[in-house]
Parts: sequence; C-alpha cells; structure tokens
Amino acid sequence: MRTPVVLVPGDGIGPSISSSVVRILDAAGAEIDWQLHHAGAETLASHGDTLPDETLQAIRDIGIALKGPITTPVGKGFQSVNVRLRKALTLYANLRPVESLPSVLTCHTEIDLVVVRENTEGLYSGIEHEVVPGVVESIKIMTRTACERICRFAFEYARKRGRKKVTAVHKANIMKLADGLFLDCFHEVAEDFPEIEANDSIVDAACMRLVMNPHQFDVVVMENLYGDILSDLCAGLVGGLGVTPGANIGDGVAVFEAVHGSAPDIAGRNLANPTALLCSGVLMLRHLGKDEVADRVMNAIRKTLSDGVTTGDLGGKASTTEYTEAVVARL
Ligand code: NAI
Repeated sequence: MRTPVVLVPGDGIGPSISSSVVRILDAAGAEIDWQLHHAGAETLASHGDTLPDETLQAIRDIGIALKGPITTPVGKGFQSVNVRLRKALTLYANLRPVESLPSVLTCHTEIDLVVVRENTEGLYSGIEHEVVPGVVESIKIMTRTACERICRFAFEYARKRGRKKVTAVHKANIMKLADGLFLDCFHEVAEDFPEIEANDSIVDAACMRLVMNPHQFDVVVMENLYGDILSDLCAGLVGGLGVTPGANIGDGVAVFEAVHGSAPDIAGRNLANPTALLCSGVLMLRHLGKDEVADRVMNAIRKTLSDGVTTGDLGGKASTTEYTEAVVARL
C-alpha cells in the first residue's frame, strides 16, 4: 500500500528541489502517495494566508509532511510559517542528523552524529519586557514536562537507531535552576535506558570539543537556544546547510524539511542543490520504516557525489535536473 505524505514545495527554489526529491524517491520505489498542499509567501496571494487551514489540517490528518524552504521577510510582514507550524502541531523535537558526504570538503571526515533540539520553550518563549528604560528582561522558561519529553525522545531515538551514547549539553553551572532542571530530567530519563551511555557537557566546552574532535559525540540533546546554535555549528562540520537534513517531530506528526532557505538569488535557474531536502526525504523514509529504500537513496547520493557530479554550490557544474538524473541512474 502506498504511504500518504503531504508535500509542501515552498518558495523560491522549493518547487524545483521538491520535484527532484519526488522524482528520486518515486524511482527508488518508495511508494509514496504525494498529496500536494501549499504554504509560503507565494501562497499569500493565491490563498490569502501563508499557512492555509487546509494545509495544516492535511498535515494533522496524515501525520507526515515533506516541506521545502519558505521565505520570511525580515522585521515586518507575516510570522514565520515554520514557527507557526511548530506551534500549531507541537513539533517539540528538532532532529538534525549530521553526516559527512563524499566530495564535500570539510576539516573532518566520517562524522556521524545527531543533534536533538528542544523546540518549544527556553529563551524562545518570546517573553520579554522593558523593566525601566534601558533595562530589559528576557525570560527563559523551562518545564519538567518539556525537558523530560525531549530527553526521552533523544534516548528513544538512540535505542531505535542502535546508537550508543547520548550527551546532554547545558550550562547548569551558571543557570543552576533552569539548566539544572534539564540536567536532572536527563539523568532521570537515562535510568530507563541502561544500555545507552549517558553523559553531559557544558555548552561552551561542547562547542570546542565538537570543532576539535566531533567523533566523540553520538546523539546530543539540549534546550532550544543551545540547539539552534549547535545544530548550525554541526551543519558547518559537514559542509553547511546545503547538505544538512532536518525534521521537526511531535507526537504522531512529523515535518521533514531542508534547513536552508528559499535561495531567491538562484530561484528558477535550475541551479539549486536538492541534496539537503533529499536527505530529509531519506530521514522521512527511515521514520516510516522504509529503511531499505532509504539506504538505496543514500547510497545513490554518495555514489553520485563521489563520481564528482555536484551542483555549483559544491563547486561542480551539474544543474538541478542533471544531478537528479545522475542520482536516479545510480539507485
Ligand atoms: P538561503 O539559505 O536561502 O541562502 C543563502 C545562500 O545559500 C544563497 O546564496 C543561496 O543561493 C545558497 N543556497 C541555499 N540553499 C541552496 C541550495 N539548496 N542549493 C544551492 N545554493 C543554496 O538563506 P537566506 O538568503 O538568508 O534566506 C532566503 C529566504 O529563506 C529568507 O526569506 C529566509 O527567511 C528564508 N529561510 C527559510 C528557511 C526555511 O524555510 N526552513 C530557513 C532559512 C531561511
């Protein structure tokens, strides 16, 4: 039976990289029933909203979506569709697998780690006010419920994927209550997973250790702000946002997405690199239990890149469609 998935192509290069992913996953035998729905800046004109109710409802009903990048104007205009989606669907876990790819020049090779970021609270709760002129307060909210939920997600992910170690990243030496609560929850949850090594690292030291020797990490879990920063740091370790997949996951619902933006400078020119969204598609296949197809697609991506077929952002000459067909030929 074909598996229904909501496809949201997004803005800019989104439609082009989404059709590339659909072409490759269909050719690989993923047996997905793509259900097209729209969101983004361009949907505002056609549907009167950047995130139409029908799109949100379809993701709720089906529980799985693959989403292209969406344009967000800086400083004015509508609220980020990504933030609205996360809030409306309580997508509390942000998952970023970080894996070295062939032909992508980086300082370290053979990196294979996973960043798990709490998505709903911390300093991103948006509670700020001016106490007196010149003094503002920005409040960091941490709850036992959300801390336990994200730590359990990280351990369950590690167990399911056969990973050996989970590291909590925190600053509990300074934020003794907020990060102390996170750390307590982490060690309590860890007791339910005795086969997985649990340790912790202070965030500044974790950054240095990641840059100097990323191989010592397996799964890392942290609150929102540290997760935002470390997930991009880790993307940088393997070649940047153009090759990094991501997913936002809640209970019974998951949205897989490229973490780069809509790249308006190259939109419509057949230059975009679909690898990040494609790797998000691979992550989605694994989430759906289609590991065999996921391995086939991942091997074809690796072979394509090691054969030197790359798009302009990685120093190559292939267009989006040439790269796509090269991957299909290697499935
Ligand atoms: P961007 O990621 O769109 O582009 C930065 C640079 O990377 C550009 O030179 C672009 O051409 C290049 N690039 C990005 N993805 C590429 C790909 N797949 N292949 C080849 N080159 C690629 O970031 P920027 O310019 O800051 O943002 C553009 C728009 O995207 C903004 O409206 C921003 O809000 C939105 N955005 C959306 C995100 C999402 O939906 N997840 C994430 C980040 C930004």
